[in-house]
Amino acid sequence: MSENIAQIVDGVVNGSLKDEDVIVWLHSIFEKGLDQKSTITLTKSMRDSGEVLDWPMEWKHLVVDKHSTGGVGDKVSIILAPALAACGLKVPMISGRGLGHTGGTLDKLESITGFQVDLSIAELKAQVENIGIAMVGQTDSLVPADRRMYALRDITGTISSIPLITSSIVSKKAAEGLAALVLDVKHGRAAFMSKIEDARSLAKSMADASNGMGIATSVVLSTMDQPLGCAVGNALEIVESVETLCGRGPHDLEELVCVQGGILLSASGVACDMEEGALMIHNSLNDGSAFERFLKMVDAQGGNSDDFASDYSMLSSLGLLDEELISTEIYVENKGWIEDIDAMTIALACLELGSGRKSLTDNVDHAVGMIIQAQIGDEVEVGDSLIVIYHRGDLPEGMSESISSAFSLVGEPVEIRSRISEIIR
Ligand code: URA
Repeated sequence: MSENIAQIVDGVVNGSLKDEDVIVWLHSIFEKGLDQKSTITLTKSMRDSGEVLDWPMEWKHLVVDKHSTGGVGDKVSIILAPALAACGLKVPMISGRGLGHTGGTLDKLESITGFQVDLSIAELKAQVENIGIAMVGQTDSLVPADRRMYALRDITGTISSIPLITSSIVSKKAAEGLAALVLDVKHGRAAFMSKIEDARSLAKSMADASNGMGIATSVVLSTMDQPLGCAVGNALEIVESVETLCGRGPHDLEELVCVQGGILLSASGVACDMEEGALMIHNSLNDGSAFERFLKMVDAQGGNSDDFASDYSMLSSLGLLDEELISTEIYVENKGWIEDIDAMTIALACLELGSGRKSLTDNVDHAVGMIIQAQIGDEVEVGDSLIVIYHRGDLPEGMSESISSAFSLVGEPVEIRSRISEIIR
């Protein structure tokens, strides 16, 4: 079976297998699944279908990354990667674009004027060596097997198979030459997997494959029922990332950054345990070192760190002072405590405004989106601001009402819960 898998992956890459044959194979994995050993073999074969990054002996144990299964307002990577670099780790982060209701790290970064995500492997390696961090898109030379397999899965409805998702995601992370990886697997109404049991199965499969390839891998299972933080929309999420990098972020976002960072600092031996690592990350957000690393990355990748010297220049560089951008505020109609904010309703409205892609070829409008003004647990009075919507032209009919309905209020105080439901190490 193992030899078979390696031969098939070879055939996928060198073109000796026709689309029909690859589709039959993908369908059979989709229908029957794969055991753990074969999933690892598939993942390794896919990793080895292209270039695998190698790093100098002296610091290859410090090379780390994270992966999130995606969510609404999930800007953890943009804060975590510079914070990790500030704490001494090396982060060659290869990310994706947004599709459907979930945002993509690359689209968010591209809101920064001049920021380039298409680096060559040589540029990526030099930047990681020099400043400890690069945040880039996929290159053609890494895991070519996944490009063909993913495209065929997309048109044959075979995306949602745990072994195929595992091998697709983990092979790309393994090709970065990582020593440690943290996976943020979301569950909830706006997550790829709504049920925690399904998220746990995917998490276990990915962690087994990644650990089986020698990468020290842990998983954080976290909820994706409400948007993460207050900002949803590419440029607005960069503003919130900068706030968090300067120690002024919302607590749910900062908690995920500190916990995932703590796990990676402990896995790579820089911190003696996860708690010490989380504190190091927290300190890097409060002493300016994480923000400094972010600014170095902005300069290295074609942006201008001077744009972040004042709020005015930052908002202007991010296109948020564009005169065509209109802001509409929605207010509280009945007093109470905020119990819930439906992430899916917010995400679909942002998609409608143009902040995301309905199909792969759509262009995104980086400036549109929303800032949630009242968080879960807040006590609000009639007339208080609930949310500000940034849009162009008239708001689509019914959108205000729909966004308003995303907020559920109750008549008594609400407990604020951690978004982290489980940590699997
Ligand atoms: N993202 C990937 O890169 N691959 C999958 O299979 C699913 C999500």
